[in-house]
Amino acid sequence: MSGTAKQYHQVIPLQTKTLTKSFLFPHRRRAAYASLAIGLVLSCIVRATAQSSMTPSSMPRLVEENGRHALMVDGAPYLILGAQANNSSNYPASLPKIWPALQQLGANTLEIPVAWEQIEPEESRFDFTYVDTLLEQARQNNVRLILVWFGTWKNTSPAYAPGWVKFNNARFPRMKRADGTYVNCLSPFGETTREGDKAAFVALMRHIKNVDSDQHTVIMVQVENEAGTYGLVRDYSERANQAYNAPVPKAILKAMPAFAGGKATGSWPEVFGPYADEYFHAWAIASYVEEIAKAGRQVYDLPLSMNNALRDPLTPLAPWHSDFASGGPTYDVISLYKAAAPHIDLIGPDIYLADSKKFETVLKQFHRADNALYVPEMGNGAEFARYAFSILGQQGLGLSPFGMDFTGYSNFPLGAKTADAAMIEPFAKIYALFKPIAREWARLSFDGKVYGVSERDDHAPQILDLGDIKATVTYREWQFGEKEAFPNLKDLPAGTEIPTGGVALARLSDTQFLIVGAHARIKFDGAGKLKDNPVIFDRVEEGHFDTKGQWVFERMWNGDQTDYGLNFTDQPIVLKVSLRTY
Ligand code: DGJ
Repeated sequence: MSGTAKQYHQVIPLQTKTLTKSFLFPHRRRAAYASLAIGLVLSCIVRATAQSSMTPSSMPRLVEENGRHALMVDGAPYLILGAQANNSSNYPASLPKIWPALQQLGANTLEIPVAWEQIEPEESRFDFTYVDTLLEQARQNNVRLILVWFGTWKNTSPAYAPGWVKFNNARFPRMKRADGTYVNCLSPFGETTREGDKAAFVALMRHIKNVDSDQHTVIMVQVENEAGTYGLVRDYSERANQAYNAPVPKAILKAMPAFAGGKATGSWPEVFGPYADEYFHAWAIASYVEEIAKAGRQVYDLPLSMNNALRDPLTPLAPWHSDFASGGPTYDVISLYKAAAPHIDLIGPDIYLADSKKFETVLKQFHRADNALYVPEMGNGAEFARYAFSILGQQGLGLSPFGMDFTGYSNFPLGAKTADAAMIEPFAKIYALFKPIAREWARLSFDGKVYGVSERDDHAPQILDLGDIKATVTYREWQFGEKEAFPNLKDLPAGTEIPTGGVALARLSDTQFLIVGAHARIKFDGAGKLKDNPVIFDRVEEGHFDTKGQWVFERMWNGDQTDYGLNFTDQPIVLKVSLRTY
């Protein structure tokens, strides 16, 4: 259901070129060309800002072009510097404990639940008091909202479904084991449940339309939360068994390769062999969610998402064996979900894996031409903060670390130990780098001009491959000197005890780059056709963007500040860097 980017690109036709050899040679009077290019880039940034203020009422929309994505808000790409509030924070009484955390964080977006049990406490009686208070306070705090619909599934259980649903198995059936006993997960074959969830979701979307369609405080809605089932691979009710033995729908056959040795058409076990149970359950849930999403969009066409409780990203793919929530949109069934639930724009991973290899692998598994990268939940411990550089540098729409409020709950060991300013600070430092350039960054990201890495657990150097330029990022360096020159130095910079480093870079033109980073050093070399060319700094400007998107120069870096690469500490520094050769 992603929209088209065409219109946007007609308005903001920023074109950048690849760095050519001749471009870098000063004797061909490239300096004049370079400053012209910089001027063009900056004027485009200003135009983008102007355009966005001209079209405040356009609907939020997820657009895709050439496999890249943007969340359009007020007519321009939007970067989600988000935070997700804790569970049970979805009441007016909790909100005053959320906004201060968001302000300290510098977040522009709050992701927060709306529960079926609270908006429909009695069947067909709706209460949107909380939603109204939330919207009003979000606007006062200048924060956009991503609502998280806690309906049929919340971490797979019906915990947030109203009592009249979850204690009436006859009308709203739970899933059945093969022996006929129930598990605490509503069946995706419960038509009454689906219709009930749909009615409540539609009522919510209609209400948002009524109270927010002129302001678009709500920019996206997540449908359900970590849908799937723990401990049981699929529903074994009579209806489910019938569907399991019926032919696999054509759309699924097209989206998912048959199991080696499986039939090209036929029932689920015939086509998918040992994967049949998981795929079948994924299809059942995706089809259920599709009905709800489609109906919701018919009344108010906002971008819709789902989130995923991950299966292990590194364990070789194998049939389900109680090792993850079956039927959820895990990376192996994203194509199936795309086919069965086309009204869901994106599926985001909930990443509570601090291990750098795992974290980065998850980003790759969910970042696809048909699936925009957005991290709707991640651990809020300090060791997670650096991953913002990877997410935002790898064309992600944004991130929302989980539990970022002062409601008094800490989800250690998955996140920070204390829910206080110390929890906020590591993320706030990185958000401070992106917030002033958030709109520009999102636009450059959509144009495929951003790159980023975060420090690995082993602190090893990393390479950013820009084609004609190779950027090497190293960690645990002092700002001065090369490590080799001080072989006996054992001291390491404070704040690097746990991996905290990262760099994100945007290519503004052939020669010019916008760079932000933390606890990292970056150096540049010619690469590809420029591999034999020395690349040196022409200008390294420290500065910031003003409210109109204009670059404000503060000072030039040179000498010690550039002789050993560009060194980022925990200071909120933005650099505009021009590279040249001689
Ligand atoms: C993932 C869920 O989606 C959230 O609602 C919350 O329960 C977190 N886990 C807790 O870490």
